[in-house]
Amino acid sequence: DTPSSTTPQQASTTSPTFKPTVASTMPTISASNEWSPLRSLLIGRASHSLFPSEPPHMTRATMPSAHRSQFRSLNPFPAHIVAKADEELDNFARVMTERFGIKVYRPREVDWAKTNMGTGGYTGAMPRDGLMVVGNTMVEACMGWGCRRDEVEDAYGGFLQMIMQEARERGESVRICRAPKIVGRDSVYDGLLDLPDGDPDEHVDVGVHGPNESSEMGWAINNTRPAFDCADFMRFGTTIIGQLSHVTNRKGVDYLRAVIPEPYTVELLNTTDDHAMHIDATILPLRQGTLIYCPTRVTEEELRRHEVFKNWDLRPLPWNPEEETDEEDDGPPRYMCSKWLVLNAMSVDEKRIVVEEKQERFARWLEQEFGMEVVRLPFRHVNSLGGSFHCATVDLVRGES
Ligand code: NVA
Repeated sequence: DTPSSTTPQQASTTSPTFKPTVASTMPTISASNEWSPLRSLLIGRASHSLFPSEPPHMTRATMPSAHRSQFRSLNPFPAHIVAKADEELDNFARVMTERFGIKVYRPREVDWAKTNMGTGGYTGAMPRDGLMVVGNTMVEACMGWGCRRDEVEDAYGGFLQMIMQEARERGESVRICRAPKIVGRDSVYDGLLDLPDGDPDEHVDVGVHGPNESSEMGWAINNTRPAFDCADFMRFGTTIIGQLSHVTNRKGVDYLRAVIPEPYTVELLNTTDDHAMHIDATILPLRQGTLIYCPTRVTEEELRRHEVFKNWDLRPLPWNPEEETDEEDDGPPRYMCSKWLVLNAMSVDEKRIVVEEKQERFARWLEQEFGMEVVRLPFRHVNSLGGSFHCATVDLVRGES
């Protein structure tokens, strides 16, 4: 069982002989891309996860239609799915430490039904949404969703204090940029709450903060205050590529630009996903110079518009996972995600990547086309809660030792 604790924990290992191969010179946080050798990692925790409860227009904009009635206040995910998800997360943590010598941190266990002054939160399984390392700065997201307002503090507050303490003791220059706190009424849904229910299968054009550059589509949040999830951004050296989405607005992008250290910059990719929420099932960099992308959400032309991809090998996934029926469909429901979640893999380094074990077609393609070594791990119950390996992690240190 997952121990109940009020303090953040490092992953324990079941092997008494195991000694992590962590160099003492390793910084506390330092990452500038998504593929350099991973040396330190935060992995989420599923216990007590609830279906996120946001206004109906947001659920319609971002969630698959089949399960939308589940997104009610204080409605827990099925207990067996949460228990299995925790087993998968624990196993993932064990493999990262034992096989790859990566230092792994775990968040504290939170009873999400008791957070947000009793109105409930969501999960501790998706830390990528709330935290991002840019160089030696840890940035906390200004989350759009009300049910996630306290998520970072509740699940990762102790962890953030601990890494700050570690950095101080080592004399490192590390910065943690906590999000501004909204106390009282949030304005981010103003003008959007009275939208008609409409056909639950139809995407509702809810826009207030305006069309994005490539479509006339509007968003489920307005632009009255900064809002962004870190999972709408990815690091490509000093260029951070991001997208506007139903949880990320222009003020959120401006805020991120203002708090990241020099010389990092943020560029927006014009994606064409009506349900946009998190960029990490749209693009997947495998290594310096090679990127896989979802061709129904972004074009090669749009990617090439960004200097950082100038000489890159840009590869569309050559099949549409949404059109596949395969063994994956026997698994627990993907309540919150499309089948493009297959791209939500996590690189250990430029040659090795962690992929959900049922995604055999994808795994073989990575091996044959790109010479990758694919680490296949079970994660379908974590997928059920809203993400895969990339969502469930925050890479704290990447780079050669
Ligand atoms: N919202 C994305 C998943 C992002 C990890 C999708 O459903 O495809």
